[in-house]
Amino acid sequence: MNIRVEKAINDQIIKEASSSQFYLAMASWSENHGLNGTAKFLYAQSDEERFHMLKLVKFVNERGGKAIIPALEQPPVEFENLENVFELLLNHEIGVTESINNLVDICLQEKDYSTHNFVQWYVSEQLEEEASARSVLDKLKLIDGDKGGMYMFDRDLEKATVLAAPPTSATTKA
Ligand code: FEO
Repeated sequence: MNIRVEKAINDQIIKEASSSQFYLAMASWSENHGLNGTAKFLYAQSDEERFHMLKLVKFVNERGGKAIIPALEQPPVEFENLENVFELLLNHEIGVTESINNLVDICLQEKDYSTHNFVQWYVSEQLEEEASARSVLDKLKLIDGDKGGMYMFDRDLEKATVLAAPPTSATTKA
């Protein structure tokens, strides 16, 4: 496997694993604040990021490279409020998108077209994830801390999580 591409994917593995850990911390905080629907949504997001990481790990190993499983920094324990949680989540996703774009760029520079093809799955996934984070944040801004609104918001997020299909396998076939 091309060394530069392998290094870029291993960097991406760190990002996906950190995202999973970060969203897990957010889920746990939400659960501790009685926001069970939000917690369910964030636990599912955390699982999804782990799935993104596993898909990269398997891809590197199947291509004869060596996936590196990283040590991770401890994520925050406390958050200001729910709006702050989703602001952080959106900013984090924007960073991940930049990193995926960088990976696409490296694939093209190295003329690694099969990895470039594989990474397209992440390009569309990032579009969806950013859009979803923006829409949740927009709702929270509208609610503006209103208690009744927060109750409905939490309930709606729980319903949305139940309806969303969970990731089932980390096969490298997108
Ligand atoms: Fe896998 Fe949300 O980035």
